[in-house]
Amino acid sequence: MKLSNLNSILILAVSFLKFSSAQKNLDASPLIISSNSEFGGAIEGASVDVNGEMFATNFDAKSFEIGRITPSQSLYHTSTSIGTSFNGIRFIPLTKSQVEQGIKSVAFLANPKENQIAKIVEDKDGNIVQSVFCKDKTLFLPNDVAFSYDNSKIYISAQNFTDDTVIGDGGLWICDGKSGEIIQLESLGRTNGVEVSPNETTLYLSEAFNKGGKVISNKIWKFNIDKGTGKVSNQELFVDFEKLDGTQAVDIDGMRTDIDGNLYVTRNGEGQVVVFSPKGSILSRIKLSSIIKTTNLEFGGKDGKTLFIVGACKDDDTKGCVDTIQNDIPGRAFSALKSLNGKS
Ligand SMILES: *[C@@H]1O[C@H](CO)[C@@H](O)[C@H](O)[C@H]1NC(C)=O
Ligand SMILES: *[C@@H]1O[C@H](CO)[C@@H](O)[C@H](O)[C@H]1NC(C)=O
Repeated sequence: MKLSNLNSILILAVSFLKFSSAQKNLDASPLIISSNSEFGGAIEGASVDVNGEMFATNFDAKSFEIGRITPSQSLYHTSTSIGTSFNGIRFIPLTKSQVEQGIKSVAFLANPKENQIAKIVEDKDGNIVQSVFCKDKTLFLPNDVAFSYDNSKIYISAQNFTDDTVIGDGGLWICDGKSGEIIQLESLGRTNGVEVSPNETTLYLSEAFNKGGKVISNKIWKFNIDKGTGKVSNQELFVDFEKLDGTQAVDIDGMRTDIDGNLYVTRNGEGQVVVFSPKGSILSRIKLSSIIKTTNLEFGGKDGKTLFIVGACKDDDTKGCVDTIQNDIPGRAFSALKSLNGKS
């Protein structure tokens, strides 16, 4: 065999390998559609509890109501203040003594209209007590929250959606999950999706800019997390959608990781979720069935492997829709809740 032939065969083999490892195109299925939805078009804050049950905001189309998505749609909590607008939600593991007291669940919720993070505690009879948990003069319009279980820290994104975004229209805050002490860590363009890697060494944060009322940039940054203090350093570009696929005008919204550290990113306006490996390469694109304005997502179900994606319905944007897709590995939040609940 001539060397040049061998070369062509090698090239063919390499391109085949490249092709076969390329991104997958997947399709989500509708779970809640406009005709049976009890959620409004501003549905947000998909979140999971220890039982794999799913929640979201904008139940009854009210920004101050949280509803259950599963086992069936129902009202979960109404804010004590109707000035509330709930957005990102995270349930956290209960302590041993909370379990002994019969407490059912504890969650942190971003409340942008009142510039604070609220805490809700559900007792054994299903009564929920709400309090203001993280609030200081630096925190404005909190958008989403992520949680680091090892050192009990809440990471908070924020966005002031101005026509011409400037540094300071968003940022990153850290709030102690035990004391509620809050510190601003970064001042940025408007920030939205925020998530922690399963080994809790990496924080992902999205940042977007507007110019003349148009969205012109969407990026995901990654930071190293200091295991002791929870503070972040080493801001590094993870994905720039302009360079990746020219979709810099499509907003990044909620982001979640699975237990292997893959990052699931909603694109609000494209009806799509893009899945990245921890190295930043695209693993798959998930096309949504009933949603274009995709706001958030979370893994739930009894094994934590069902990805629930929420957003305004494609055919009626006054209603909130939910799509699902089965994954082969569970989400990070569900797995952490399962393994840590009642342990310390
Ligand atoms: C958002 O930005 C506008 C324009 O700069 C400013 O007037 C407003 O006070 C900001 N809102 C908040 C909550 O920071
Ligand atoms: C921790 O997770 C990040 C992101 O998933 C990954 O890049 C890194 O290699 C992991 N570190 C270790 C020590 O496993």
